[in-house]
Amino acid sequence: MKTVYVGMSADIIHPGHLNIINEAKKLGEVIVGLLTDKAIASYKRLPTLSYDQRKTIVESIKGVSQVIPQETLDYEPNLRKVKPDFVVHGDDWKTGVQRTVREHVIEVLSEWGAKLVEPAYTPGISSTQLNQAIKEIGTTPEIRMRKFRRLLESRDIVRIIEVHNGLTSLIAENASVEINNIVKEFDGMWISSLTDSTAKGKPDIEYVDFTSRLQTINEILDVSTKPIIVDGDTGGLIEHFPFTVRTLERNGVSAIIIEDKVGLKKNSLFGTDVEQNQDTIEGFSAKIAMGKKALVTTDFMIIARIESLILKKGVDDALARAKAYIAAGADGIMIHSKEKKADEVLEFCRRFHELEVKVPLVAVPTTYDYITEKELASAGISAVIYANHLLRSAYPAMLKTAKSILEHGRSKEAGEYCMPIQDILELIPGGK
Ligand code: SPV
Ligand code: MG
Repeated sequence: MKTVYVGMSADIIHPGHLNIINEAKKLGEVIVGLLTDKAIASYKRLPTLSYDQRKTIVESIKGVSQVIPQETLDYEPNLRKVKPDFVVHGDDWKTGVQRTVREHVIEVLSEWGAKLVEPAYTPGISSTQLNQAIKEIGTTPEIRMRKFRRLLESRDIVRIIEVHNGLTSLIAENASVEINNIVKEFDGMWISSLTDSTAKGKPDIEYVDFTSRLQTINEILDVSTKPIIVDGDTGGLIEHFPFTVRTLERNGVSAIIIEDKVGLKKNSLFGTDVEQNQDTIEGFSAKIAMGKKALVTTDFMIIARIESLILKKGVDDALARAKAYIAAGADGIMIHSKEKKADEVLEFCRRFHELEVKVPLVAVPTTYDYITEKELASAGISAVIYANHLLRSAYPAMLKTAKSILEHGRSKEAGEYCMPIQDILELIPGGK
């Protein structure tokens, strides 16, 4: 019996997949190399279904003998393991991101005289189209909540952008660029206390309370599908925190980040220019533990944000706190800094990774903005948050428009700063 290898993502199984497997079956015993989340995340968005769910489905397809993980987009490691007589793939991969992968498959197979067979691509069906349809239907709280953990497991670095209302969440949802056939998007959203408060014309001092923050969160949940991380300020009173956590978990938020400060909260970027006080290690650990106890799922994350560098208490203090907070149950650590240089954050990262217990690390490079995602990832940062950029870019544009109208006594000149009327009418589908 000949062996046939078929690589696939199989997020949404359609007749095109079945056709490939049928063709493969004619040639011998079919082994499916199922792309892992990590392999898929290396070139496009995460599949809707997890690896295990996809595996269960593919295993049940008539004609499939075995399903094994394919850990990279590159087929070579699996081909060397399986040594198939054939690889079968739809002929659609001759162009696009998979072109070089295909060429490499042919090269490797030729080493033992095996062949690539390419049945004609089934027209009229595309995973991309189906994905678009799924996106329009939406998501569920469970799928959305779980997705952040899956992203942390699959991406070198998870990319999060600030949102503060429904419209900005649509930007986070849909903004996309394609570079060298790799589609780049934001993986999720940060509901910042700074920008939520600022958008309401209020200072970032925990005055905009959780009930009000929840309205913003709901507005965003309602029109988007990507994972959400909520900036939970200090987490509020320890007695209130379990309620906050449960509400967010129930609604499908993926994580809350709380900072280890007490008393009147001031924005961290003021640093020591204002009075702000750090909680005791014991006090903050107790808050984390209370939150963890309130959770129903193992998916929701409570991430502890350490303010030691903000308050000039140094890396040693930050590390001691990280250890204690992890012991109290924190699912991740956010290390914040308002320095223009990343040196202290990077030192923290280096020493953090020497610790025995490991949880994902989050960074917010607002002041040390020169640092790239690649540099952060190689320092061991698992998620980067661009914490305020949509609001900071919108405000100057709006101010310019307002001043132009005042200066000219009419709106014609402001037109160059504005999107066309037709575009704003059609920006949100369903209005016509
Ligand atoms: C926020 O975005 O509200 C944050 C990050 O908490 S920072 O403003 O840098 O404190
Ligand atoms: Mg904040």
